[in-house]
Amino acid sequence: MMFLLSKLKDVDFWERQLRERLAEPIHLNLISLFVYFFGSFRAKVAFDLVERRRYAFALLKAADYAKAQGIGKIYALEFGVAAGAGLVNLAWLARHVTKDTGVEIGIVGFDTGTGMPRPVDYRDYPEEFIEGDFPLPDREALQRNLPPGVRVIYGPVGETARGFVESLDAPVGFVSLDLAYYSSTVDAMQALLGPAEKYLPMTLVYLGAVLIDNANPAVGELLAVREFNELHRFRQVHPFNCLRDKRIFKNAMWHNHIYTLHVLDHPKRAGVEKLKRDVWVLEQPYTAAES
Ligand SMILES: C[S@@+](CC[C@H](N)C(=O)[O-])C[C@H]1O[C@@H](n2cnc3c(N)ncnc32)[C@H](O)[C@@H]1O
Repeated sequence: MMFLLSKLKDVDFWERQLRERLAEPIHLNLISLFVYFFGSFRAKVAFDLVERRRYAFALLKAADYAKAQGIGKIYALEFGVAAGAGLVNLAWLARHVTKDTGVEIGIVGFDTGTGMPRPVDYRDYPEEFIEGDFPLPDREALQRNLPPGVRVIYGPVGETARGFVESLDAPVGFVSLDLAYYSSTVDAMQALLGPAEKYLPMTLVYLGAVLIDNANPAVGELLAVREFNELHRFRQVHPFNCLRDKRIFKNAMWHNHIYTLHVLDHPKRAGVEKLKRDVWVLEQPYTAAES
């Protein structure tokens, strides 16, 4: 109730509704009302009715990919936890995604625990952030609000990300890179360079700061991604293909956050495993017309 009241007082919330929902066709908004009250979790994700739509879409998509490949467990990693709102939400979403897909989801967060480090240079948006932004006031309180098994690894990601995925008992399906800085994102992207089988062949990636007005390919996450792609031919981070066209509501800004890590050296993508299926045969319209 308190949450609903604070939302109703939030100017950004109303602005977003105006821009993203009321600018959409009226019939879709009417169907949304029905889905809101009676729809399944999956339907609510499709209609953008779930808190933190960006994580909901990415986690459900990753679980769907895993299920299609017979994989029973995946990991979701959040780099940049701050006070933990994203991680708590991720844990809540994971419960629903598991219920829907049967895919178990392990969740791990990474943060200094003391807020943003000092920006290294112009590539870290020193005009925007200062050292100590987004601190975590109470680690124990955060841990109490997380389900058992969800953990946060504290320390600079330059020390905690490298080699981490090797320790996991299942592939990573979703990575949130919500560190804003170029330098921190470069460090966290070390976690995308583990053995290919430690990822889904297409692993969902969220980039947190790509929507700020100062973002451009010479700074921040976009620069980190560009350099990563240049250096690693078999690991490519690319905006999720045609996401806007694939969604019911087209105006949502969160689409711009969603990327895919294409693991091109994964056995499933490198041509190592032969596909077990019949050949695809397309319809022959001329034979149908003749008969
Ligand atoms: C924008 S906040 C994350 C917000 C959070 N994901 C959420 O949804 O509520 C960015 C976080 O990244 C962390 N961070 C930035 N650079 C880091 C680094 N090099 N190592 C560890 N954490 C870092 C900061 O401590 C800060 O808490």
